[in-house]
Amino acid sequence: TKVLQVAIDGPASAGKSTVAKLVAKKFGYVYCDTGAMYRAITVAAIQAKVDLNNGLAVTQIAKDTKIKFTPGNPVQRVFIGDQEVTEAIRQPEVTNNVSTVAAIADVRQELVKHQQSIAAQGGIVMDGRDIGTTVLPTAEVKIFMIASAHERAVRRYQENIAKGIKTPLDKLQAEIELRDKKDSTRAVSPLKQASDAILLDTTKLDIDEVVEAISEIIIKKQ
Ligand code: C5P
Repeated sequence: TKVLQVAIDGPASAGKSTVAKLVAKKFGYVYCDTGAMYRAITVAAIQAKVDLNNGLAVTQIAKDTKIKFTPGNPVQRVFIGDQEVTEAIRQPEVTNNVSTVAAIADVRQELVKHQQSIAAQGGIVMDGRDIGTTVLPTAEVKIFMIASAHERAVRRYQENIAKGIKTPLDKLQAEIELRDKKDSTRAVSPLKQASDAILLDTTKLDIDEVVEAISEIIIKKQ
């Protein structure tokens, strides 16, 4: 069997990371959550009290920030240097500002280099927005995972309730739609289906069914 690169892209809260983690585990591949990197830079910039619209200042932060992942299921821990930010990167303030940071070309350049070096180590499942188009353009398996905005908001709502966070459903849906709009309209590697990616609509599928669908695609390519 061949060791593959699996790129999973799609809009916010489509279930990419949940599924990507399970697929990676199943095939013994490394899992890399690239959104966590943009989130970590956002946390570092907020902590440094830098104006997130100041591209030069945020880029400097991206260059100075050492992001580290420690693999683990179900939680992949994230560190900035020695500081653990696993939970901090999921705060609403970070979620609602990360697209501004992710639109900065030089920030992307730094992180894409890092992502490509992680992928060079062997079998990988990487999720994000531009993996199939920019980070791993030669990935053997490319999935573009979508679901209706309503379904994605409902999933996020249920996750939040389990964590004790009670953001109203319509507010969550508006936030998701705004983030998708920012991510798909930015100048540099916007959220977009790669021409050779397989479209997977998960609106009516559960997690196991999505993992199964992707596994079948991987097995055919191995
Ligand atoms: O995947 P997640 O929702 O955690 O990503 C957070 C944000 O990071 C996205 O909304 C997007 O702005 C940015 N991102 C990106 N490119 C990636 C992964 C994430 O621009 N490959």
